[in-house]
Amino acid sequence: MPTLVSHPDEVRVISRRFGQGAADIDKYLELDGYKAVQKSLDQGAEWIINEMKASGLRGRGGAGFPTGMKWSFVPKQSEKPKYVLVNGDESEPGTCKDHVIFLHDPHAVVEGTIIAGLAIGAKMGFIYLRGEYRYLLKIVEKAVADAYAKGFLGKNIFGREGVDFDIVTQSGAGAYEVGEESALMESLEGKRGVPRIKPPFPAVVGLYGGPTVINNAETIANVPHILLMGGPEYAKLGTERNGGTRLFGISGHVERPGVYELPMGYSLRKAIYEVAGGIKGGKQLKAVVPGGSSCPVLKADEIDVGLDFDQMAKAGTMLGSGGIVVLDETVSIVEFALRTIRFYQHESCGWCIPCREGTDWLKKTLTRFHAGAGNKKDIDNIQYLAENMMGRTFCPLGDAAAMPTLGFIKKFRSEFEEYLEGKRVDTPLIQIQPYGE
Ligand code: NAI
Repeated sequence: MPTLVSHPDEVRVISRRFGQGAADIDKYLELDGYKAVQKSLDQGAEWIINEMKASGLRGRGGAGFPTGMKWSFVPKQSEKPKYVLVNGDESEPGTCKDHVIFLHDPHAVVEGTIIAGLAIGAKMGFIYLRGEYRYLLKIVEKAVADAYAKGFLGKNIFGREGVDFDIVTQSGAGAYEVGEESALMESLEGKRGVPRIKPPFPAVVGLYGGPTVINNAETIANVPHILLMGGPEYAKLGTERNGGTRLFGISGHVERPGVYELPMGYSLRKAIYEVAGGIKGGKQLKAVVPGGSSCPVLKADEIDVGLDFDQMAKAGTMLGSGGIVVLDETVSIVEFALRTIRFYQHESCGWCIPCREGTDWLKKTLTRFHAGAGNKKDIDNIQYLAENMMGRTFCPLGDAAAMPTLGFIKKFRSEFEEYLEGKRVDTPLIQIQPYGE
């Protein structure tokens, strides 16, 4: 089990039960578990959605779409069954927050799923975990089984006549692409995990054609906490239009890497230098990838920015999935750019051409450049390729590959140019692993 980290600036809402054995249902019940769902059963769907809207909770998967609004888009009447789908296919490099939720507080996900079902009128939920989290699936499966045994799932839940809710767990098979919501639904339906065209959005036409609420695991695990403390109280913890707190995974060259819960809007500089203990070994900061590998990089002098969706967008990057990757002065940006693009090239599902071909050409060009056979025109070509992928693919994987690439070229062009002149930085900690080629 990973060591739990902590810092006095943390505001513990979602991580409140971490390290307290709450994967055990009796412990979870002792720690206010399953109270929010009972309150929801008393208050009804409209109350739940209003509280969620008031909380200002925005999707923690990365896009930051307002959760209450998403739930309110689900049609009240539907011929087809409605579903709740929990996206636990956390695969964005640098992102490791859902992992700790499944490990330490799986019942919060189960309880949040039931509440989402009550809010939209669904009788069935699915919890989908990434293939590499199969060992966590056992924990989640036990939580679901224990909830059935207590009568919290199944028929007449919590003794309420006519209120039924079932949960099914599912493991992925190791494809990053199925973290994209429409590819996730394809995968869950037993098909190849490629994206669907949107609209229609899943809230209207989703799993098996039925209206479906898809939320990230952290989003769902927040729900019971929000309903217990009240939406407006939760909203106050964050900034305007960015309610609450968030789990941030801080990794790379810091003294104390780990997953920390900080209020939305918390300073990125403080997160690196105070919460995570500063740059490892007293070295200089070179760059930060602030929200998972698809976000444009920030330079060392650009970190005086608040960690919320709007402030990060203003700074020209994204809050994304909350995975802050810190790079010190020893990191070669050329090598880091190549490493990043190798991931996206490998994970592109190949469904649409700009992504399949674009990531491949970016990888080829960067590989040659990195190997020392590059020329000045390559830098412009990399930029041209990435610019032409943007917005031209079914799903955001193409953008996710293009955006960081453009960031590296824009912010570190001189390093690419110096690389051609033989001025190279060796990156001792970042070794490029071939993906079985
Ligand atoms: P998106 O902005 O297209 O959609 C966000 C959510 O809002 C979706 O659930 C979508 O169905 C819903 N939505 C948007 N407009 C709607 C409308 N008009 N009506 C109803 N529902 C609507 O973003 P997307 O493609 O879902 O996610 C992209 C983000 O995912 C990126 O910003 C990235 O940060 C993040 N990401 C996270 C990963 C992880 O491991 N957590 C992996 C890769 C990317």
